[in-house]
Amino acid sequence: MVKIIAIDGPASVGKTTLAKKLSIRYKSPILYSGKLYRAIALEIIERKINPNSTKEILDCVSNIDLNKLSSKELYSSQIDHISSKISSKKQIRDKLVKFQRDFPKNTNKNSKYSIIEGRDIGTVIFPDADYKIFLWADAKIRARRRYEQVKKNGINASYNSILRKINDRDLKDLTRKIAPLKPAANSVLLDTSYIDIEQAFNALNKIVLNT
Ligand code: DC
Repeated sequence: MVKIIAIDGPASVGKTTLAKKLSIRYKSPILYSGKLYRAIALEIIERKINPNSTKEILDCVSNIDLNKLSSKELYSSQIDHISSKISSKKQIRDKLVKFQRDFPKNTNKNSKYSIIEGRDIGTVIFPDADYKIFLWADAKIRARRRYEQVKKNGINASYNSILRKINDRDLKDLTRKIAPLKPAANSVLLDTSYIDIEQAFNALNKIVLNT
């Protein structure tokens, strides 16, 4: 039986980087569940759908183009904003549950693990996951890391604006009524505020190998 590794945590905590490293290390498929919300946001923009109309968005979820999950267009501040907004809607979340739960059986059956990262993976999508990891880091530290990364890519950015957006997304993720971001009761909490990505990866490896 494939073992499920659920990784949850707030925006810009390093989930994607760490989950990808685990996926390479264990040759295991990975689902970045945030991309599902981002792909819906992209459809909303492309089809000029009203982001407040749940009915129109639900139509759009049924016709979601999974090829778009690898699109670079999924990452922009407009998509950040719309995906965050729609992710608080119960009907939309409910429609995405099956796809996420089916992911392990629809992907490589020969791999030992299936890795899914997001906000509610250990709490709602896979409450019986074999490994539940909750990543955390102080918002100011996450904003500083994101700022350095954006600057390195030659893009002009303001630290304060990045911090504001992170705080805004945290507030939405942590306080929404449906599937809020919170550590599952039996998850391992890894605070990466004062460790680098390699140290965090070593810690994750130990959790996977020793559990
Ligand atoms: O992880 P991300 O930044 O790509 O996620 C995009 C948005 O989707 C973010 O606002 C939170 C939301 N999301 C969610 O509500 N539940 C998930 N399992 C994954 C993402």
